[in-house]
Amino acid sequence: MNSDLAQKRIAELSAELKQHNYNYYILSQPSISDFEFDILLKELEQLEKDFPAFAKSDSPTQQVGGDITKNFQQVKHKYPMLSLGNTYSKEELQEFDTRIQNAIGHAVEYVCELKFDGLAISISYENGKLVRAVTRGDGVQGDDVTQNVKTIRSIPHELKGNFPPSFEIRGEIFMHRKTFERLNNELKTELLEQGVDEDKIAERLYKNPRNFASGSLKMQDSKEVAKRSLDAFLYFVYSDVNLCETHSESLKMAESWGFKVSDHFKICKDIDEVMNFVNTYDKERQNLSYEIDGVVIKVNNYSFQKELGFTAKVPRWAISYKYKAETAISQLREVTYQVGRTGAITPVANLTPVQLAGTTVKRASLYNADEIERLDLHAFDTVFVEKGGEIIPKITGVDTSKRDLFAQKIMYPSICPECQTPLVRKEGEAIHYCPNDSHCPTQLIGRMEHFISRRAMNIEGLGGETVAGLFKKGLIRSYADLYELKYEQLNGLEFESEDEAGNKKKRSIKEKSAENIINGIAASKSIPFERVLFALGIRMIGETVAKKLAQQFENIDNLMQANGEKIASLYEIGEKIAENLTRFFADEDNVAMVQRLKAAGLQMELAFNPDEIRSNKLAGKKFLVSGSFSISRDELKKLIEHNGGQNVGSISKSLDFLIAGDKMGPEKLKKATDLNIKMISEEEFMQLIQESIIS
Ligand code: IVH
Repeated sequence: MNSDLAQKRIAELSAELKQHNYNYYILSQPSISDFEFDILLKELEQLEKDFPAFAKSDSPTQQVGGDITKNFQQVKHKYPMLSLGNTYSKEELQEFDTRIQNAIGHAVEYVCELKFDGLAISISYENGKLVRAVTRGDGVQGDDVTQNVKTIRSIPHELKGNFPPSFEIRGEIFMHRKTFERLNNELKTELLEQGVDEDKIAERLYKNPRNFASGSLKMQDSKEVAKRSLDAFLYFVYSDVNLCETHSESLKMAESWGFKVSDHFKICKDIDEVMNFVNTYDKERQNLSYEIDGVVIKVNNYSFQKELGFTAKVPRWAISYKYKAETAISQLREVTYQVGRTGAITPVANLTPVQLAGTTVKRASLYNADEIERLDLHAFDTVFVEKGGEIIPKITGVDTSKRDLFAQKIMYPSICPECQTPLVRKEGEAIHYCPNDSHCPTQLIGRMEHFISRRAMNIEGLGGETVAGLFKKGLIRSYADLYELKYEQLNGLEFESEDEAGNKKKRSIKEKSAENIINGIAASKSIPFERVLFALGIRMIGETVAKKLAQQFENIDNLMQANGEKIASLYEIGEKIAENLTRFFADEDNVAMVQRLKAAGLQMELAFNPDEIRSNKLAGKKFLVSGSFSISRDELKKLIEHNGGQNVGSISKSLDFLIAGDKMGPEKLKKATDLNIKMISEEEFMQLIQESIIS
């Protein structure tokens, strides 16, 4: 495509995509599918890559993220970002109205809006273009997060209609509940697959959508921010010129310029209407796709706002009414204790089902023994359950007046509920563990599930429930047993499975599934060594550590024989990991299991992979390969290129090395000798790429 045509097409595509973004994110009325949108976007991306001179800073392609920001620049707000006075009480809301009526002399109109639970942002526009986005910070100055904010699709880069040349608009950036759940689940899977201990997972997850949104906006890589699907509502316009008379008009104007303004607002002629709005949304908020923590009430008329002015900290013309966290009352049925893959015990309160914030709550986390003690929990206690944005509800208190006189205090068990081994609690830790890691069935099943998982042995056809079933049927006790399973043992096998709520159902393995399981197990024998190492489920040996160990020790025997000190001295490994490894291999059962896996044909040594050996060690050097080698000539050539060297096709004076294999032609040999070219063997070449100096 010539440059005139490219320029024209870039402009066309940009305009078209901007319209689609507007239809989708602002109007919620998409006119094309996501797939069609992506095709147009990809075409634009390619054209901008080929013709960078025509790539505009406000291009829709910018919304997929761009540069990495090292440190956010601090920017002073032109208009300080104030917070609002807030209250939880209807009486105080009434008093707010009385104060205003006294100051103005009569009743005034209010605008009620939702108080979105996110992060405040201030965005500046110059001549209709987004120029800067700054967080609230301390109210006086905040972080310049422009690059990240540009990835939020509901925030326009360019305005339409009749906007003033320069203004700031404030709003709230947030994450939808569904997105939060999806991303947090993805994060959980990722952490589990990386080998992070289960009891450490909860603290690594985001507590609520607000937290996730704020963590996302502060990320340095805007491409990552783009994946977080953040959204924004805008609710306040600041300009040096008078644009209109009332706040509600300003919201309408902002909407006409292309901003996303919430539909859930109301002009109220008096405080009674405000109270109605507050009551309505106390119920309605559970049906919203995002979280709100209250209602913001603003005096509508700007001249009255001016008359009322500000206190030292907050405007006198606005207030927020905050909803209390949603609470429900339920009854404790039973406390159960879950055992994780690493032996960590988590107490769970099983409750009489109750409706809370749009979902039925049956269980609440009790975290650890201290929490049970703090609540002084007794059998069948009436409890208060709260869901403050967190996914798992918690018990905030007990109604002791409802407690039966003879109710038994909940006692934390001293033995593992699954294998009866006495529990241990390490100094300074809140969590109890079952130390029987080699025989506790729940830990074994948990580790087996890890072994077959996608990022470990990736055994297709075999899922968690079936593994648990096979275990309970006595068919598998160790990873190695999997490789001895026979089709006849599986076909028609009946077992009982249990879902999370403890409901049991009968399952049986049909012919086709049995075949898939056997094939999946066989296919897993080609999974590379580093993943086998990760699959073993040794504490703290996540994917990255497994890879490092595989590269350093090259095979399982070297690793099993290495002493703790040597392992610990490796870069980024450290003592704790080394300790876990040596403890694992000190156990005879584990060694026997590894030997059986090896005999079954699993990869127990580092495979040669030319794609993974990359360096700049051969930079500027010319190579010719001739003859046959232990690896293919193409692989050898790939190695040369991946390490910075150049392959040439014939012998000349400028050639640096001839790699001579078996059966090299005599003519080549002669020519190379005549020209005094350095000849090396395959082994010598391999040494070259491992060492750094070549002369
Ligand atoms: S108006 C001077 N409107 O609540 C007026 N704020 O406690 C400033 N917020 O920092 C804010 N929804 O982050 C306003 N509809 C809404 C809001 C809202 C949420 C947040 C905002 C502000 C905080 C004040």
